[in-house]
Amino acid sequence: MNRFRIAITKGRLLEDSIKLFEKIGYNCDAVKNPGRRLLCPVDDGGFDVVLAKAPDVITYIENGVCDMGIVGLDTILERGGEFYEVLDLQYGKCRFALAAKDGEDFYGTYKTRTVATKYPKVAGDFFAGKAIDVKLIKIEGSVELAPILGLADAIVDIVETGSTLKANGLEVLETVCGVSARLIVNTASMKLYRNEIMSLVAKCESALPL
Ligand code: PRP
Repeated sequence: MNRFRIAITKGRLLEDSIKLFEKIGYNCDAVKNPGRRLLCPVDDGGFDVVLAKAPDVITYIENGVCDMGIVGLDTILERGGEFYEVLDLQYGKCRFALAAKDGEDFYGTYKTRTVATKYPKVAGDFFAGKAIDVKLIKIEGSVELAPILGLADAIVDIVETGSTLKANGLEVLETVCGVSARLIVNTASMKLYRNEIMSLVAKCESALPL
């Protein structure tokens, strides 16, 4: 059997994820100083940490090459997938919001509105729930540019501090939903290693909030 593997999203969630494991008592030196390594041993926890991009964390969990993972609810909602979501880790907090240029009357028109987003599923579900017909345009990053350049009437994007919106003359029209980091588990691993997994989940839970 492979060693137990926990996939962690690189970037914003990594620092707090390390903080969580250190609070539990694990030595995370190898994860903190990975160099170019992407598989880092946490020997006293008996597992390896896999550092991956957010959607790939879900891909590795779904396909059973990692047992557990830490990923944002934003990625879960956009990508979906087959796994158990076992714990809200209460960090990586931000929200999905609909935003437009200051003073834009987004709802006050009958024409089809254009919305730019990196998250077409989240945005599509949001407008479907309101029975509003919109044209969605997928943008890969810096979505705030789309309304500024005149490509879109609004955006659906992640807002954390709000400073990117503010710096670009945009404002939140509506919150779509809150987002935070989640602990997820491969379905087969949950059957095979239920006791070990639930014990780690309990340790994480008692270390929260960070
Ligand atoms: C995210 C998001 C906003 C920004 C929000 O972008 O898409 O642009 O962070 O953060 P704030 O409310 O604290 O300003 P990210 O940095 O992940 O890069 P991206 O724009 O390339 O997606």
